[in-house]
Amino acid sequence: MSGFGKECADVVRAARSGTYKVGLILGSGLGSLASEVEDATRIPYTKLPEFPVSSVTAHASELVAGMLEGVPVVILSGRAHYYESGNPSIMRTPLETLKELGCETLIATNAAGSLRDHIKPGSPMLINDHINWSGLNPLIGEEDESRFLDMSTAYDPEIREALKAAAKDVGEDLEEGVYMWFSGPSFETPAEIRMSQVLGADAVGMSTVPEVILARFLGMKVAAISTITNMGAGLQAHGLSHDETKEMAPLGAAKIKKILRAYMKSIA
Ligand code: HPA
Repeated sequence: MSGFGKECADVVRAARSGTYKVGLILGSGLGSLASEVEDATRIPYTKLPEFPVSSVTAHASELVAGMLEGVPVVILSGRAHYYESGNPSIMRTPLETLKELGCETLIATNAAGSLRDHIKPGSPMLINDHINWSGLNPLIGEEDESRFLDMSTAYDPEIREALKAAAKDVGEDLEEGVYMWFSGPSFETPAEIRMSQVLGADAVGMSTVPEVILARFLGMKVAAISTITNMGAGLQAHGLSHDETKEMAPLGAAKIKKILRAYMKSIA
């Protein structure tokens, strides 16, 4: 069941030697953090064996290895989503690559719709748990007992505290909440959004959950932050669009970048 993480890590190591501490997945609007990496080596996904390339506009599709605030990082600028292929373990090879390169921690980012009035478009939301509404799972087909993965503390409590402290240090508000995964690519209906509110979700989106499951499976610690781009369907006066996601994502993303830099400083 394993992917091509070893082969991809070999390509990265041939271009830049070293071992890394944190892997970051940058979703819509967050790509610019990849351009701020120091001593950076950039490798297009097309040069990495079996690395999935996203067809979503606003995703750069390159791996960037280097230093961020003194921490050796590997950034995946752009991710493949389940809805692009129908394969829930499409991110297996990228996550194996991070693990193979030494990353102990994964920090995933995404764009999401808010279900709560106090979590406003343009703001970041720290994910503290998730609901896997899709019914899909990247571990389906795994054959040994490691497939019965404990998800009790999937979003690492210590890293969450450190991210909250980092936000405080840089004077940014950081709301917290539960992220609910819908397969996409169509947005949710207003009825689905009302259901999600009742079920205890605070934001909805089309990514991240399968990556979190895979990263935990591979033994990495995980944290995730959403940039809120809109209110969920039916909660705002106008309809939803990918254009709005692209337009709004950079607002929360600028705040997430500040928080991530402060977090990196704290662990350097
Ligand atoms: N729903 C699902 N995914 C999203 C949304 C949304 O409202 N906004 C940004 N990504």
